[in-house]
Amino acid sequence: MIVLDNLAKSFGSKQVLRGVSLEVPDGRNTVIIGPSGIGKSVTLKLIVGLIEPDGGAVEVDGEVVHQMDRRRLAELRGRVGYVFQFAALFDSMTVAENIRLGLVKRGHGEDVIRERIEESLAVVDLPGVEDKYPAELSGGMRKRVGIARAIALKPHYILYDEPTTGLDPITSAVMDQFMIRTRDLGVTGLVVTHDMRSAFSVGDRIAMLHEGSIRQVGTVGEIQATEDPIVRQFIEGRPGPPAPAPAGRFE
Ligand SMILES: Nc1ncnc2c1ncn2[C@@H]1O[C@H](COP(=O)(O)OP(=O)(O)OP(=O)(O)O)[C@@H](O)[C@H]1O
Ligand SMILES: [Mg+2]
Repeated sequence: MIVLDNLAKSFGSKQVLRGVSLEVPDGRNTVIIGPSGIGKSVTLKLIVGLIEPDGGAVEVDGEVVHQMDRRRLAELRGRVGYVFQFAALFDSMTVAENIRLGLVKRGHGEDVIRERIEESLAVVDLPGVEDKYPAELSGGMRKRVGIARAIALKPHYILYDEPTTGLDPITSAVMDQFMIRTRDLGVTGLVVTHDMRSAFSVGDRIAMLHEGSIRQVGTVGEIQATEDPIVRQFIEGRPGPPAPAPAGRFE
């Protein structure tokens, strides 16, 4: 299980997280929703130890991430797959080479590597693209390769950063299916998104991040029925109250 315990993080004078607490139970998909710039990607980076919290802690399987040495961190990143917001594939390498990197790093032999590349591309319905370069793929295909690369390491957890942002409705529905399929294969998912359609489709639980902490957490049904005006406004995509017009400008 992943536990976020009162996480705080600032950059300079800007306090992004002010005490985020959330349990991510095994075998289910938990979704963190919230507007742009609220700290969703920062939260994922804290989970894999790419950045350190100013306060609080992330625990993965009972172990505090920011106390891990380099060896434990490398081991953690084998258990926790990360699908980056912008796919983050190496353009000078083929799809197969991109997926290979992590497998080689973990000391797998050639047979296992070949098998894992093939298997993981099949899971995201992209068989036969091994020898293509990222530039030859569409944005949606690149995102799927990003998922394949994470799955290939057979992680216990996968963190998905905005997996459907910028995709057409059909391709995003396909991405949702992969996230559901991956969960059904036993992988615990943590998805961050501001795409409510996707959140309701893949999420077993949804947590809303607002002003540095978790405003509400619940099942899809509970969030859809929320009476919290802040959460309601976000899931319905309504703008906030209009700012008062500056005095005198339109006279
Ligand atoms: N390395 C960094 N240095 C300085 N500021 C940072 C850094 N990383 C994030 N921030 C700031 O922290 C805030 C939260 O960023 P974050 O990337 O987590 O937003 P987000 O919720 O993922 O937004 P989006 O939905 O647009 O991806 C932003 O104001 C951002 O500018
Ligand atoms: Mg982000």
